[in-house]
Amino acid sequence: MATRVVYFNGEFIPELEARISIFDSALMFGDMVFEATRTFNQKPFRLREHLDRLYASMRYAEIDCGLTIDQMEDATCETIERNLPALGGLDVQIMHDVTRGALPLYAGIVREGLAPIVSINVVPLVRHTGSLAQKYEKGAHLVITPQQSVPARYIDPKAKNRSRIYYKLAELQAARMEPGAMALLSDERGFITEGSGSNFFIACHGEILTPRPNDILRGVSRHACIELAGELGFPVREADIEPYDVREADEAWITSTPFSMIPVTRFNFQAVGDGKPGSMYRRLLTAWGDAVGVDIAAQAREYEALATTWKS
Ligand SMILES: Cc1ncc(COP(=O)(O)O)c(C=O)c1O
Repeated sequence: MATRVVYFNGEFIPELEARISIFDSALMFGDMVFEATRTFNQKPFRLREHLDRLYASMRYAEIDCGLTIDQMEDATCETIERNLPALGGLDVQIMHDVTRGALPLYAGIVREGLAPIVSINVVPLVRHTGSLAQKYEKGAHLVITPQQSVPARYIDPKAKNRSRIYYKLAELQAARMEPGAMALLSDERGFITEGSGSNFFIACHGEILTPRPNDILRGVSRHACIELAGELGFPVREADIEPYDVREADEAWITSTPFSMIPVTRFNFQAVGDGKPGSMYRRLLTAWGDAVGVDIAAQAREYEALATTWKS
């Protein structure tokens, strides 16, 4: 099969050759922004919404990548197009990475110069969604971690930036509480914010609640889920959600680009509702799949099987 290529500052280069210098501000400070988009049937899902967020993140970080949003969109579509022969019909994660570039201190020893670096790459979702396939039926176990969210007044999580060691620490803590458990972060007041890579929802007495959009990344999947809920006639409200509310909820789920929606059937070692994926969750996932023409859970199971022999 053909090898994948990466858009790298205006050129297309083999994936293995795409490298960021150790002198880049991204390595020095976690000083970069990014986006993760996915395809369904090899068509990007809500690409413009992801790019709008990428440009908002760049404005937040004061990085001018030198491309207009239309040029970024064209470069993204070209990256997908050029990689089609290497994808074998699989859906992919599309990553946009924008670094500030090398620190001026190191001018002269960085081949790429000091300008920001823009890279766009695609990787089949085989491992990303395959590793979660069982959770569509069994559900996830979410635990509140000692590691809390960073308040927006310090580093704003609405900007999708890589200064995110706190999400990693939360994941490590969750895994120590129970292997396979997923992290759920909270704010200084104890209200739930988001997962380490997902947004959170509960359903209670026919109403859907999701954390207020302040100390969280405003997920594109969160938005898609809220819109689908509207179409299905489910009321949705942004609210302060306490662990107590999750224990009392009928259902819970998380949303994120690689997997769309996964039900949460356990929370802090207790069952959520009857401990099974709920009916609102199921109707939303079905509606999502119908909208994009992919059976999302079935695709994850297919990718799980593929992942056992997957090399790249
Ligand atoms: C911290 C965090 N919250 C939420 C999300 C979900 O965002 P999206 O639906 O745009 O993928 C992500 C995605 O990676 C994330 O990293």
